Amino acid sequence: MSKAIAPAELAASIRGYQLRSEQQLDRYLTLTEPGTARLLEAMRYSVLGGGKRLRPILVYCAGEALGAPLASLDAPAAAVELIHAYSLVHDDLPAMDDDDLRRGRPTCHKAYDEGTAVLVGDALQALAFGVIAEDESPGVSAAARLHVLRVLAQGIGTAGMAGGQAIDLEAVGQPLTLAALEEMHRRKTGALIKASVLMGAITANVGPGPELDALERFGAELGLAFQIQDDILDVTGDTATLGKQAGADAARDKPTYPSLLGLAKAQELAANARDRAIESLRSLGPRGEPLAALAHFVVDRSH
Ligand code: IPE
Ligand code: IPE
Ligand code: MG
Ligand code: MG
Ligand code: MG
Repeated sequence: MSKAIAPAELAASIRGYQLRSEQQLDRYLTLTEPGTARLLEAMRYSVLGGGKRLRPILVYCAGEALGAPLASLDAPAAAVELIHAYSLVHDDLPAMDDDDLRRGRPTCHKAYDEGTAVLVGDALQALAFGVIAEDESPGVSAAARLHVLRVLAQGIGTAGMAGGQAIDLEAVGQPLTLAALEEMHRRKTGALIKASVLMGAITANVGPGPELDALERFGAELGLAFQIQDDILDVTGDTATLGKQAGADAARDKPTYPSLLGLAKAQELAANARDRAIESLRSLGPRGEPLAALAHFVVDRSH
C-alpha cells in the first residue's frame, strides 16, 4: 500500500508541511504583550528553527487525506507542535532528564534559566489551546473544534503525555516489564502523536465512527513505533545527527526498549508497531496511502 507513494514525492510533501508549519508557528509567536519580552523570546527559541515537525505533518497529512482545506489545519497543526515543544522544554529540565542539548542548541533552561523554562512550558500550553479556540477557519464546525480541543487535552493529560512522563520519572533505575514500558511509551509520546492524527481527521469533519477508530489505532501504533525508534537512536545515533546527547538514556539508567530487550529485538518491535499502524489504514483505501508512507519515514528516520 505504502509503496504507491514514491520517496521523492513523500520527501516533497513532508518538506512542504514543514515549511508551512514553520511559518504558522512564527506567526502565532509574534504576539507581543507588555512585560513578557524575555518569556516570548524564550518561547520562540524553544519552538522555532529546529525539529522535524512530525506532529504538524501528521495533522496536515491526515486532514488533507480526508478532505480538509489546508488552511483549516494550520491552527491544530501549530497547537500540537506548541504542546510538543513545551513537553521537550520540561523534559530537559534538571528535575526530569537534565539535558543540555536539544535540536542542536542549548536547552531552554541553559540558554535562559530554569524558572523561565517552566514558564515557557506553561505559556506554550496556554497558547496552544488559545490558537484552536480563536481560530475562525470556515468549514470547521463548533462541535469539531470542541472535539479537537478534547482530543488534545486527552493527549496531554494524565492518560497521555504527562501521565507517561510521570511513569518515566518513577521508572528511573527500576526494571520495568515490557508491558509497563510499552504503556509508558504509549502515553508519554504515543498519545500526542495519536492526537495529531485525530485532530487532522476531526478538522476534516470526520465524526466518531469506524473511520476515526481506524485512525486512532493508526496513531497509537505509530506513536509507539516512534518512541521505540527514539530509544534505538539514543543507542545507535551520534550527538551531532540527533541534535541531542546520544547515550543519555543509558547514562541516566532509563528503562528503554534496547536496554530491556537488546537492539535487534527493539528494532523488530518498532517494525511490528509500524506494520500494525499501516494495517489499521486498510479500510481507508487510497486515502490512507500518505499516512502509510509517513509510517515508514518514522521508523526509518536517523534523528
Ligand atoms: C523527541 O521528539 C521527543 C519524543 C517524544 C521522543 P521528536 O523526535 O519529534 O523531536 P523534534 O521535534 O524532531 O526535535
Ligand atoms: C520524551 O521522551 C517524551 C516527552 C514527552 C517529551 P524522551 O525523554 O526519550 O525524549 P528525548 O530523547 O529527550 O527527546
Ligand atoms: Mg524523558
Ligand atoms: Mg528526554
Ligand atoms: Mg529519548
